[in-house]
Amino acid sequence: MKSLNNVLVFAFWLLFVSSAFYLAADAKIHHHEFVIQATPVKRLCKTHNAITVNGQYPGPTLEINNGDTLVVKVTNKARYNVTIHWHGIRQFRTGWADGPEFVTQCPIRPGGSYTYRFTVQGQEGTLWWHAHSSWLRATVYGALIIRPKEGDSYPFTKPKRETPILLGEWWDANPIAVVRQATRTGAAPNVSDAYTINGQPGDLYNCSSKDTIIVPIDSGETNLLRVINAALNQPLFFKVANHKLTVVGADASYTKPFTTSVLMLGPGQTTDVLINGDQPPSRYYMAARAYQSAQNAPFDNTTTTAILEYKSAPCPSKKGLTIKPIMPTLPAFNDTATVTAFSRSFKSLNKVLVPTEIDESLFFTVGLGLNNCPKNFGSARCQGPNGTRFTASMNNVSFQFPKQISILQAYQQGIPGVVTPDFPANPPLKFDYTGNVSRSLFQPVAATKGYKLKYNSRVQVVLQDTSIVTPENHPIHLHGYDFYIVAEGFGNFDPKKDTSKFNLVDPPLRNTVAVPVNGWAVIRFVADNPGVWLMHCHLDVHITWGLAMVFLVDNGFGELQSIEPPPADLPLC
Ligand SMILES: *[C@@H]1O[C@H](CO)[C@@H](O)[C@H](O)[C@H]1NC(C)=O
Ligand SMILES: *[C@@H]1O[C@H](CO)[C@@H](O)[C@H](O)[C@H]1NC(C)=O
Ligand SMILES: *[C@@H]1O[C@H](CO)[C@@H](O)[C@H](O)[C@H]1NC(C)=O
Ligand SMILES: *[C@@H]1O[C@H](CO)[C@@H](O)[C@H](O)[C@H]1NC(C)=O
Ligand SMILES: *[C@@H]1O[C@H](CO)[C@@H](O)[C@H](O)[C@H]1NC(C)=O
Ligand SMILES: *[C@@H]1O[C@H](CO)[C@@H](O)[C@H](O)[C@H]1NC(C)=O
Ligand SMILES: *[C@@H]1O[C@H](CO)[C@@H](O)[C@H](O)[C@H]1NC(C)=O
Ligand SMILES: *[C@@H]1O[C@H](CO)[C@@H](O)[C@H](O)[C@H]1NC(C)=O
Repeated sequence: MKSLNNVLVFAFWLLFVSSAFYLAADAKIHHHEFVIQATPVKRLCKTHNAITVNGQYPGPTLEINNGDTLVVKVTNKARYNVTIHWHGIRQFRTGWADGPEFVTQCPIRPGGSYTYRFTVQGQEGTLWWHAHSSWLRATVYGALIIRPKEGDSYPFTKPKRETPILLGEWWDANPIAVVRQATRTGAAPNVSDAYTINGQPGDLYNCSSKDTIIVPIDSGETNLLRVINAALNQPLFFKVANHKLTVVGADASYTKPFTTSVLMLGPGQTTDVLINGDQPPSRYYMAARAYQSAQNAPFDNTTTTAILEYKSAPCPSKKGLTIKPIMPTLPAFNDTATVTAFSRSFKSLNKVLVPTEIDESLFFTVGLGLNNCPKNFGSARCQGPNGTRFTASMNNVSFQFPKQISILQAYQQGIPGVVTPDFPANPPLKFDYTGNVSRSLFQPVAATKGYKLKYNSRVQVVLQDTSIVTPENHPIHLHGYDFYIVAEGFGNFDPKKDTSKFNLVDPPLRNTVAVPVNGWAVIRFVADNPGVWLMHCHLDVHITWGLAMVFLVDNGFGELQSIEPPPADLPLC
């Protein structure tokens, strides 16, 4: 009996060891070097010294398989502090590699370097990376593609081609100067001068048409477009003339396929779509322009284009023929109905395990604000509406980033005075969030507050837009987690009426939710990743104004339930 037991134990041990071996042999480690540097980039008839990675704009595309490890050495040869965030990567136990400056690390200073190391576990689809320091991500960004493990396949027919489509925003100025000017004056920053597709504005802008991006397709074939909204401050509509798009994934999670003619992505969001070469061989524009939900606010109302070109389309240069691409009709700038219909179509591919019991039921208002002009400020520094300064907050706390240490380091080492764990679970004052809010409620409190979560606690957050200054669609991004979006709606969230509408069967799993203008969204996640995790509006103008907070997630007890020790080369302040 004893010997039989031993044999069984040995057999299981062998199985365990060999499967561990198999996995380890299968997963790859990818080494990359990123050099942050100023590079002359010509757009809109002028050349600017843009900050780039390896001289490329957009930066290099990283391609890996689920389960692989990325090791990226970032060397800063620019004159600004910089950090890189791996947007949507869970960073399970590797919070030191997440990237937001003064949250999980001090910046990589000019002349310095830092190596980010992390493993991708259980995520497949399209993510991206970008600078998380001031407004550098205007030009410092790129795609991060995660394919299934070798031997696994997509849950749809393998497409013939795959094309990343990065939607960006270009200033005919130095974006750092733009945000610095806004911070000085208190006014809204200048809007951008162009949107871009893979770095190019396209045919509708001056001096741009000879560099317009061409996306090839063949009659009868399928192309997987990996669409990323990398714009700094603008939710965008995206459409391809005469072609239907089949959505199959978002934020590196698969969705139930659905067909649409138009996408809307908030900054930070990604959407994977299949497009079929089922139209007459020709040239078709793909185009993106603003979804603008804020009222009376200036915005960049231009349109970026690329060309979907059939390989068999008559060559435009031959015989002096110019085949003008067909232009799609984009929704009106304020077409919230289209956004709502699109957003409600998202469902997880399979049934999922949504937490049903909730340990932490949180309610966070998200919105803008106005600070009265401080006494010692002249009018030049109070150029916001009626002599105020713009601000923004969650639960009336306008988030202040520390300047001399990262919150993660301070929290781990128990250094006081950096973050206080008293971020309110509910708005300090209940009011008609989406109504006519009294001017006396417009000024939030500036502070660095976090909300503590026990390891493995089941969390629900109601994100409620406010109409303070203006209601607006806010793309709220959570670091370190994917979350289920169980419901969205308009007006003030009402637990009595709205809880019954929750989708607890197959809600979409995302890292960024576009909270409806004058409405709300409810998200759920399990706090199984210890560390300090930023949650913020992904419109960079709003994070500049303080629309952010941090979750402080405790370690668990088991060996794999604690954050790893900080890397030896972690930049300190
Ligand atoms: C912002 O726009 C104003 C008006 O066009 C211009 O005078 C100013 O130089 C711009 N600021 C920056 C930093 O480009
Ligand atoms: C193109 O340049 C012309 C002349 O400088 C200018 O009037 C026009 O506004 C520009 N158009 C765009 C789209 O920038
Ligand atoms: C964009 O805005 C400018 C300036 O406000 C305006 O003149 C122009 O008509 C607008 N264009 C579109 C397409 O709405
Ligand atoms: C959208 O804007 C147009 C004017 O450009 C206006 O007539 C219409 O009422 C607006 N629609 C919504 C839903 O706000
Ligand atoms: C600015 O003042 C005007 C006139 O008093 C008022 O109509 C407007 O609502 C104010 N704007 C803001 C944002 O408070
Ligand atoms: C909003 O409330 C203010 C008083 O707080 C009032 O003067 C104003 O008329 C109201 N506006 C609307 C549109 O109800
Ligand atoms: C935010 O806090 C400030 C300071 O206590 C207060 O004046 C303001 O009314 C509060 N606003 C809201 C929306 O709670
Ligand atoms: C750059 O980072 C250091 C901390 O490492 C900080 O003291 C300094 O203020 C930062 N510079 C800017 C311009 O933010």
